[in-house]
Amino acid sequence: MKPKQTYILGIESSCDDTSAAVINNGVVLSNVVATQSIHKEYGGVVPELASRAHQQNIVPVVQLALRKANIDKKQLNAIAFTRGPGLMGSLLVGTSFSKSLAMGLGIPLIDVNHMQAHILAHFIKSEEHTTPKFPFLALTISGGHTQIVKVTNYFEMELIGQTIDDAVGEAFDKSAKLMGLPYPGGPLIDKYAQTGNPNAFQFPKPKVGPMDFSFSGLKTAVMYFVERNSKDHPNFVTENLEDICASLQFTIVDYLMDKLKNAVKQTGIKEVAIGGGVSANSGIRNALRTAENKLGWKVHIPKFEYCTDNAAMIAIVGELKFKESIFTENNVVANARMKF
Ligand code: KG4
Ligand code: ZN
Repeated sequence: MKPKQTYILGIESSCDDTSAAVINNGVVLSNVVATQSIHKEYGGVVPELASRAHQQNIVPVVQLALRKANIDKKQLNAIAFTRGPGLMGSLLVGTSFSKSLAMGLGIPLIDVNHMQAHILAHFIKSEEHTTPKFPFLALTISGGHTQIVKVTNYFEMELIGQTIDDAVGEAFDKSAKLMGLPYPGGPLIDKYAQTGNPNAFQFPKPKVGPMDFSFSGLKTAVMYFVERNSKDHPNFVTENLEDICASLQFTIVDYLMDKLKNAVKQTGIKEVAIGGGVSANSGIRNALRTAENKLGWKVHIPKFEYCTDNAAMIAIVGELKFKESIFTENNVVANARMKF
């Protein structure tokens, strides 16, 4: 007998990407992401502009996702949306749209925690990545998040480490800005680091709890480093760009790995899954592969389009909740500080 077909529409609007996706039995049929380029000029996300852009993008993005999935909205079984955490104005657009659509179609509404979705993105079916086994540790690293989570089951997650200030992606982007690189600077630091000497310069590794992170001190250290060296040598940064990027990346990756190793030691769990935009970084990927070979870890890295903010990860959580009949009321409200 053919398995019952369920079509879940996922909607993501927590930050600066408007995204809609359709999933069917773990397989992504479409995953449309409209990235807002307007923020580039400002060197970071401007919340007011983000919500306006979501307002403009949401209808065409949903229509395109349905078209690409080759289904009609009447075939949808449920609507899953990001309730939080994120920027309130941005969340309100996706939340209000989802409530209205679910009401109009007379189908269930499913609220999704964005951070849980980054983790459960690993359960999207794809030949390009492996699926972690429970229990596992999830490291979510992006422009908005830096967390280590112990995952016992789909909906049983415990936050065991997090940043006390900036996210790691911000540390990359803000350091890049101080070096005169455009936003987002993370991928550029990674690119220049390839040909630089990681031991050329020293940067501090802030001391916090064994599984927590702090990145604001690093940003200040980079600022003083650039100021100090550029005083008598105005071309210092451009002439040493590769070495500075390599040293900075080495410090950040080493810091992330220190914390992850502490988490593995404390929990005894060697199954490690990473997600978030920074998981594209070649330094962290290499360090994780080394840990697999030398420390016996099993590492999972999802396909890149499911690492960054996307609605396919919201849709997979929607599907998992749909199977358990975990729905939400239509009077649900967005929650900018939503916890696990
Ligand atoms: O997940 P994401 O697309 O959006 C959120 O912030 O939620 O992550 C974007 C972040 C940016 O800070 C960007 O600089 C960083 O991921 N990033 C990288 C690399 N690719 C993206 N950072 C370091 N190395 C990379 N290769
Ligand atoms: Zn995210």
